[in-house]
Amino acid sequence: MLELRNICKSFVNGAEQVHALQDITLQVQENEFVAFMGSSGSGKSTLMNILGCLDTPNGGQYLLDNQDVASLDDDTLSKIRNQHIGFIFQTFHLLPKLDAIGNVKLPLRYSDVSDEEATARAIALLTKVGLEHRMHHKPFEMSGGQRQRVAIARALINNPTVILADEPTGNLDSKTSVEIMALLIDLHKQGQTIVMVTHEDDIAQYAQRIVMMRDGKILDLDYKV
Ligand SMILES: Nc1ncnc2c1ncn2[C@@H]1O[C@H](COP(=O)(O)OP(=O)(O)OP(=O)(O)O)[C@@H](O)[C@H]1O
Ligand SMILES: [Mg+2]
Repeated sequence: MLELRNICKSFVNGAEQVHALQDITLQVQENEFVAFMGSSGSGKSTLMNILGCLDTPNGGQYLLDNQDVASLDDDTLSKIRNQHIGFIFQTFHLLPKLDAIGNVKLPLRYSDVSDEEATARAIALLTKVGLEHRMHHKPFEMSGGQRQRVAIARALINNPTVILADEPTGNLDSKTSVEIMALLIDLHKQGQTIVMVTHEDDIAQYAQRIVMMRDGKILDLDYKV
């Protein structure tokens, strides 16, 4: 369902060239739950940006649901991103002026889904993540764990092919982290494909498989902590 073939990505920093990803080949199957680990600068976020169609590689192929998206233009890429990818970030990335419902239905703004239908879907998803009593709260009126639940509901609104979570528990205390991971596990059991980045062994343990990276390369496709 996700397949990277010989993906390379480099950045030019002044006179220096940084090879952030070097010849990355890997597959993520439907309904897999994969965690990426590796030290700071090993290329995890660069890889997530490519998987999420936020960035394009300099070389290689990326097949998302059998479509090669590595060389598509920005417009096509953003359409694909909207239809296929749900993002969860360490810092939640919610809009402060919108309440929970407004944030969750935001990805549907430029779609052909009616506002009524979008609201109904947002309410259903907020209920699913346990926020039925926080529908009209704004982000500053919610705890970190509640904000991340809103972000998870937002990630689900387009029924994505894959959820990409970059350090989803990085800003949460350990008790709340366990609750958020339980929610992700639940989604995985319901068939959701999930790719996550984490620094923490105990968070990585929730995944079915750990991919270990170092210096822009894959060190181990099935790492045991
Ligand atoms: N936009 C960019 N411009 C220039 N260099 C970049 C850019 N993005 C990433 N890099 C470089 O690419 C390498 C990989 O960075 P990346 O952010 O993917 O690492 P990471 O594994 O996510 O690290 P961390 O654990 O700190 O988040 C680093 O050397 C980084 O400095
Ligand atoms: Mg990173």
